[in-house]
Amino acid sequence: MSTSARVAIVGFGRFGRLHALALVQAGANIAAIVDPRPDVLESASKAYPDTPVFPDVTLLLASTEVDAAVVASSELTHFPIALELIAAGVPLLVEKPVAATAAEAQQILNEAREGDVYIQSGFILRYEPRHLMLHEAVASGRLGELQLMRAKRDVSRSWFHAYGHTVNPILETSIHDIDLALWLFASPPTFVQAWGTNSLGYEIPESVTVLIEFGSGGQAFVTSSWLRTDRDVPNILSWELESSQEDSGGVIAGDLEVLGSQGTSRLATYSDSFSLSTDSVTAYPDTAFWPVIGGRVWGALAAEAVDFHQAVIGGKTLGVASMEDAVIGQRVAEAAIRSLASGLKEQL
Ligand SMILES: NC(=O)c1ccc[n+]([C@@H]2O[C@H](COP(=O)([O-])OP(=O)(O)OC[C@H]3O[C@@H](n4cnc5c(N)ncnc54)[C@H](O)[C@@H]3O)[C@@H](O)[C@H]2O)c1
Repeated sequence: MSTSARVAIVGFGRFGRLHALALVQAGANIAAIVDPRPDVLESASKAYPDTPVFPDVTLLLASTEVDAAVVASSELTHFPIALELIAAGVPLLVEKPVAATAAEAQQILNEAREGDVYIQSGFILRYEPRHLMLHEAVASGRLGELQLMRAKRDVSRSWFHAYGHTVNPILETSIHDIDLALWLFASPPTFVQAWGTNSLGYEIPESVTVLIEFGSGGQAFVTSSWLRTDRDVPNILSWELESSQEDSGGVIAGDLEVLGSQGTSRLATYSDSFSLSTDSVTAYPDTAFWPVIGGRVWGALAAEAVDFHQAVIGGKTLGVASMEDAVIGQRVAEAAIRSLASGLKEQL
């Protein structure tokens, strides 16, 4: 394999565009772009004039050879797309959630294993320096035996009305913290209980709290709410000042605490340590995950792209991505969604 993989981007929305940018920086060549929306393909052709575009993966595979693909399409489309790419032997990065159900995620992993196809999931926290350092501290035993993790991830109410109401927050936002808990505890989850609130008139809850118990005896509390106002201040990520972003005026607020038998850690996932203010708006732009500065993607997404590209070309990787954990995470999420309905603690 050459030192530059030919990568297809499947789903060229907000995140697909960022993945493409980050992969080019990592040394990849964007060899194809797939999206069913003609307007999206038109803008893709403007951004990447030499890259062929396709309305679906079947047409891509029929005419273009690629070394890898990033699946950044809408959440519920990942399963058939991943299976088609795996059947064609294409290594892939699948954005979170890997699939709509745990059975689908397991099938994706099984078929990738059977076909000996490399696959990784899009759990970006595993590529963010503070989370990596925390993981190292926990894994080395410096904090003793991990006992408790508390993770909070809150998102704008306006985004729930715009698109958030289509996917259960357990799968959309909490899945990041479920994956983080699996990574940090490194112990099989045994029981899950979940609670939710429904005040915005949708079938799915807008706020969820999930308690995960691990075989080690540790516990993780993962909570996520889509009830933040657009002007909420603490721990804000706002895109209002970033004219390149289509969606504006939202916030993500997140915090993490872990407590071990011999040490603790606190991590302000999105902090207000950097502000940009005009007469009409104050923003606290994120610089940790995927800031676009000078036409480049920085932060965890850039590190993830380097790692994926290295995996594809047979280079050295960080070894933190785990599709196995992604499947277990889907099982935890599914048990949590069952618990929301049953009101009971669910066994895994
Ligand atoms: N890892 C993270 O931190 C993170 C952050 C944001 C989004 N995401 C994930 O990335 C994915 C995309 O999110 P987004 O914010 O870019 O959404 P988006 O709605 O902006 O983009 C999704 C794109 O997928 C396209 N699409 C729909 N069906 C398709 C199909 N069958 N084949 C190809 N393309 C198809 C849509 O037309 C759209 O252009 C989601 O799974 C989301 O959860 C992950």
